[in-house]
Amino acid sequence: MLLNLKHKIYVTLFFIAFFASNLNAQVLDPEIEEKVSALLAQMTLEEKVGQMTQIDVGVVTVMNGQDVDQPFDMARLEDAIISHHVGSILNAPSTPNNKAQSIEKWRNMTQTIRAVAARTRLKIPIIYGIDAIHGATYTQNSTLFPQAINMAATFNRDLSFKEGEITAREVKASGIDWNFSPVMDIGRQPLWPRLWETYGEDVYLASSLGSAFIEGHQSNDLSAADKAPTCLKHYVGYSFPINGKDRTPTSIGERMLREIFLPSFEAGINAGAPTIMVNSAEVDGIPGHANYHYLTTILRNELGFMGFTVSDWEDIIRLYSRDKVAASPREAVKMAVMAGVDMSMVPFNFSFYDLLLDLAQRGEVPVSRIDEAVTRILRVKYQSGLFERTEPTIAVNAHFATKEAEIINRQAAQESIVLAKNDKHFLPLSKKASILVTGPTANLLSVMNGGWTLTWQGDDESLYPKNKLTLLEAIKQKTSGKVTYVGGKNYQDEINIEQAVTEARTHDVVVLALGEKPYTETSGNIDTLNLPFPQLQLAQALFATGKPVVLVTFGGRPRIITDIAQQANAVVLGFLPGMEGGVAMADVLFGDINPSGKLPISYPRNTNDIVLYDHKPMESYAPNQYNPLYPFGHGLSYSEFETHGLTLDKTQIQVGEGIEVSVDVKNIGKMTGKETVLVYLNDVVASVTRPTKQLKAYAKVELKPNEIKKLHFTISADAMSLIGVDMKRQIEIGEFKVMVGNESVNFNVNEK
Ligand code: GLC
Repeated sequence: MLLNLKHKIYVTLFFIAFFASNLNAQVLDPEIEEKVSALLAQMTLEEKVGQMTQIDVGVVTVMNGQDVDQPFDMARLEDAIISHHVGSILNAPSTPNNKAQSIEKWRNMTQTIRAVAARTRLKIPIIYGIDAIHGATYTQNSTLFPQAINMAATFNRDLSFKEGEITAREVKASGIDWNFSPVMDIGRQPLWPRLWETYGEDVYLASSLGSAFIEGHQSNDLSAADKAPTCLKHYVGYSFPINGKDRTPTSIGERMLREIFLPSFEAGINAGAPTIMVNSAEVDGIPGHANYHYLTTILRNELGFMGFTVSDWEDIIRLYSRDKVAASPREAVKMAVMAGVDMSMVPFNFSFYDLLLDLAQRGEVPVSRIDEAVTRILRVKYQSGLFERTEPTIAVNAHFATKEAEIINRQAAQESIVLAKNDKHFLPLSKKASILVTGPTANLLSVMNGGWTLTWQGDDESLYPKNKLTLLEAIKQKTSGKVTYVGGKNYQDEINIEQAVTEARTHDVVVLALGEKPYTETSGNIDTLNLPFPQLQLAQALFATGKPVVLVTFGGRPRIITDIAQQANAVVLGFLPGMEGGVAMADVLFGDINPSGKLPISYPRNTNDIVLYDHKPMESYAPNQYNPLYPFGHGLSYSEFETHGLTLDKTQIQVGEGIEVSVDVKNIGKMTGKETVLVYLNDVVASVTRPTKQLKAYAKVELKPNEIKKLHFTISADAMSLIGVDMKRQIEIGEFKVMVGNESVNFNVNEK
């Protein structure tokens, strides 16, 4: 048999690596560097170790859940900042009053902290951090966006940029300095309770939307009054637990790391993110907080990261108490700091401070390593303008919970909703129809927001704003027909199936809202993706009435809906559309908005059938198959679109050259709508197995009926590269295939 193995020349991309590192926004400002070294030279060892210490606000407040004006225990606050020199404070999972508080209270709190820091010897400001992952968390009436999984479904960079802008503005208006966002983990394990905090399973989509968020949040001047530093998390490999449970082991080889899990962090670094939070779990037996190879060799030496790393919650001490890789808390501190953790989210006490001070005094941790960490921390504080800021520098009313922000938030929610099925154009609904609304997620705001909202788990419905509408309330507001609700007040309330069936018989259509209650982290661990049985029972009983059913789902994960989706007339996947989710879903159901969301994940058909769209050839090599209920990139419209005329500017290129792609997209339906055109690439034969296809470009356009637009894309040389047998990024000569819609065109990469 003639082996048609192509002669391959591997071109190690020195020029790409060099070019990328020069592009990245980790460029230093000489003026700031001068200030940092001058300040460092004045600092005592205690002050340096203090800067590396981050404590939870609970350590310095009276956390009695009361809505007090002055939550601080001033003696403890002064002890932390003046005597222990702490460099950072955060609040998670709760706030001083254990629930969301007003922005005025946040401003008072952060101002109190600022005033105490101003009384320290060197007046080094505290950097206060918060998890504003979909808007200003724990703050009453803040603009709470769709969660990242939904922002990914919009395939809209501009919306992600605006989310970053608005979030930074509202965080800064509250006087808080630093946002532990975006999550740049790649969501490839649907059981994982933090899948919804990611931009989904695709590297390119996560990199592009996460970078857009960072650019909106930071612009190119971190010290601007309405900008704030971001934090890439959770570096790296946290999102792929083998058993699907949060904070459990994964096994990621170096090639998968560099192909799948590292690139989005690289993109975030190149977008200018100045801080990185470390993975709480372990990869291949090495806990994230003890991984020198990841934290120093790759992150600093290879990727050129010039900011600082912060541990995740209590994870340094867990090297001793949980992972058993350190024989004592002292050894855990030494292990983490020497691996490359610059700041410890301790967070409950000063153990890290005491132990590191002792390690440094005994020479077991070189002062040079402490100086390196403190240099990075001070650099970010100077870049962020903290030394100049004496109080929250933007007023509340012009920058917080504005009407403009609400409008953008509603658009994001609308564009994040995925119309997965619409038999015989059943949707949109008539506004005169009589509707039975039922199901555990029909009349709650919490189920559309998820965790990191008004509280850590997001599940206290009583805290949600009264002026925002649940799906039921939005349907009632929008339609003149009779609307009847059968359901409870809370997610876990039993629904009277008999009553629902009786009501269904006397209404034109049923809107059945199923899904998950809110959760995050280990609280959201589950053993199956199947929906709770009572939800399936309710669905089957309603189908038995013969009445048409529109299935709506809310929740952070793709719960298995196969049986009921097949029986429903329409299926609309809401995931976690945020505070405007109710009105946005109603906008879609009644056709006031033409849905344009597309799945950023593969929606599994069965709970153990987890194959992703960018799978390897053997995963779809008979009898194996990629057979999700709904594939990555799936999403219907009330209109219809087609692409044609896929063309490449060249079909023969040399290694290192890019390629220009053009394609026409046409609206062949009757309604103006938005369509996202996805451009995939496949390396037909390579020295390592390659994904059957990978997203390498996308564009979202709005088209009127019969309107055609010609779209142009560039597939860069870097987009053709792979991690070779020698673990180096390289481009191999040979055949590549570009795929758009149902067309494909091949091109060849040739030796130089
Ligand atoms: C949590 C999360 C992390 C968050 C941090 C501070 O454990 O893992 O995403 O930023 O603690 O709240």
